[in-house]
Amino acid sequence: KKYDFGLVGLGVMGRNFILNVADNGFTAYGNDLDKEKVSALIKEGGDTNKVNATSDATTFVSSLSTPRKIMLLVPAGKVVDIVIESLLPLLDKGDILIDGGNSFFTDTDRREAYLQEKGINFFGSGVSGGAKGARRGPSIMPGGNKEAYQSIKPIFEAVSAKFKGEPCVAYLGPKSAGNYVKMVHNGIEYGMMQLTSEIYDLLRKVGGLNNDELHDVFSTWNQGRLQSFLVEITSQIFKQEDDKGDGRLVDKILDKAKQKGTGKWTSQNAMDLGIPVPTIDIAVSMREISALKEERILADSLYSRPTPTAMDKVELIKMAEEALYFSFISAYAQGLHQLLDASNEYGYELDLAVIAKIWRAGCIIRAELLEDITKAYQADKKLANLLLAPTFVEKVQSTVDSAREVVAYAAKNGVPVPGLSNSLTYFDAYTSEKLPLNLIQAQRDHFGSHTYERTDMEGIFHTEWE
Ligand code: 6PG
Repeated sequence: KKYDFGLVGLGVMGRNFILNVADNGFTAYGNDLDKEKVSALIKEGGDTNKVNATSDATTFVSSLSTPRKIMLLVPAGKVVDIVIESLLPLLDKGDILIDGGNSFFTDTDRREAYLQEKGINFFGSGVSGGAKGARRGPSIMPGGNKEAYQSIKPIFEAVSAKFKGEPCVAYLGPKSAGNYVKMVHNGIEYGMMQLTSEIYDLLRKVGGLNNDELHDVFSTWNQGRLQSFLVEITSQIFKQEDDKGDGRLVDKILDKAKQKGTGKWTSQNAMDLGIPVPTIDIAVSMREISALKEERILADSLYSRPTPTAMDKVELIKMAEEALYFSFISAYAQGLHQLLDASNEYGYELDLAVIAKIWRAGCIIRAELLEDITKAYQADKKLANLLLAPTFVEKVQSTVDSAREVVAYAAKNGVPVPGLSNSLTYFDAYTSEKLPLNLIQAQRDHFGSHTYERTDMEGIFHTEWE
């Protein structure tokens, strides 16, 4: 008996993904060096004709129908190369390897080129939605050889999340296109998480909202235009009781955020491309500042800050909703702009409408807004920036003033809201015909003869400054 689909790495994500494959009528075979994980999957699968597993790589590979379709759900980095090397001698030309982890995109390019020489098709394929998504339907972002994609397409379409019946997976482009898109997805995720946490801070410090009220506010927002996975889980978080003591769990969680690198990579690569993504940049920096807990405690004792003056709750909640909506748009605009530029730089030929479409369900940044974003890119395939979409002008114009109010109020009252502030500043700068960078050009020419261009004539100029 040959199985339709193979999966290496039976951790939570791998086990859930393979069970999802089997639920959708495909037979699947798992592989992990850890024998306990192997037997756990066999037990959970229930019927070895549908789901089977082994710790032996040879048995694993020879049990799969050809061309073999093998997904790797192992930690990004060296492990991926080790697994590839161990499978390689057992594979045949035409077989397909899919890396479902958050691999760095240049690693994917290297692996794809290396495996292509050996006749193996390699896909870097981001999978979003966490453990639950893997089990019930993730958003999948595959990139690689377009023809080879046809053989994995039926399985991916069956297991992926559905938005109004449409699968949240699509072939995105050659080489590392899939990993790159997943990386920027995570950058936007970092931005949206930072923005949500700032709004939480304002509501509790300025509005004096308790956890029950915060739960109510976020669940009400989740019924409206802010409807999104992150707003939904945020509302749930405020309700969670502490199982190790009294009160709500959120109040006991240490305020030091960890990170595995995808947000930082997004920022780093945006810098390399020369594309501004300030909301994502600051989201990474805030995780870094959060990690400096001991220094923060010391510094807190050295300086005083204003005690936030209370604001009318109803008024504050209304402004906060508008500011968050505005900032979410700004964060998506920045990430999508980066994708557009990366597509040109790396030859991905990305279709942003398709990307927005497969983000509408299953993934961490899924949100009602993505339906509007999809439509904006469908209406104009060459849209340079979401802020230029005619359908977004009203949405942005009607909420930006609240973003200004909230940022100004927070600054005056000593509540750090750099995500909101950067989202606003990005908008203000991007939509300004005149910026003061003429002065920077003058300074550059003054101290370094770096030359400048003029507004009234063509050419490159230099002045012997007095
Ligand atoms: C997803 C997530 C996931 C990521 C976590 C943790 O789309 O399901 O993006 O891939 O690993 O969000 O990321 P950090 O540890 O960097 O916060």
